[in-house]
Amino acid sequence: RHELQIAIDGPAGAGKSTVAKLVAKQLNLFYVDTGAMYRAIAYKALTSGIPINDEEKVSQIAQTAQVVLDHSEERLVWCDGQNVTQAIRNPEISRAVATVAAYSKVRERLVELQRREAARGGVVMDGRDIGTHVLPGADLKIFLTASAEERAKRRWIELRNAGKDIPFEEVARDMQRRDRQDTEREVSPLEPAPDAKILDTTGLKVEDIVAEILRLAQEG
Ligand code: C5P
Repeated sequence: RHELQIAIDGPAGAGKSTVAKLVAKQLNLFYVDTGAMYRAIAYKALTSGIPINDEEKVSQIAQTAQVVLDHSEERLVWCDGQNVTQAIRNPEISRAVATVAAYSKVRERLVELQRREAARGGVVMDGRDIGTHVLPGADLKIFLTASAEERAKRRWIELRNAGKDIPFEEVARDMQRRDRQDTEREVSPLEPAPDAKILDTTGLKVEDIVAEILRLAQEG
């Protein structure tokens, strides 16, 4: 394998997708948002009337779901032929997704799709288990984090800019709960890979974080 693989993991609101997109553009690599895939499964379960706690049924729909990330500038997300790009960002999905993502069969299926994406060429992939599990041989592993306060603030602003006016306290509480679920689950929990570079982005500008990652990529 000669093509570059960059893994970016970390908790919610650390700026992973913003940074990953820019790094991918700079280095002319594919960008793969693995969180969008888990969100698509949560969306499918909720809209099919399947209780999120029913591991067997949720696993079943994950096996047949056609989740497609398009690589255009718009970065559309498709699930079974339906454009779910906007819908998967709704707070109900954010609240349900970590439950779905804890199911081993759901993860197996999505990890397979993620590795298939990586086989197409060089990638920047963001998620929770990319450096530890999906691409253990990645050339560069970044664990992006920031203070809980700043991460909640970023997410709150993002939602407000998307026209969703949700109280800050609610955003912070939901985020905390989701991070706890992601960290405490048995299968591929959120944790830095032993060889990951940990970047605390509290107070940093996006362009500085991107520059640091590009520097690390060149170094390797
Ligand atoms: O990245 P994003 O916040 O959209 O991810 C949504 C959720 O999907 C995470 O909170 C986590 O539960 C799950 N996820 C995961 N493994 C990944 C990416 C996302 O478990 N690689």
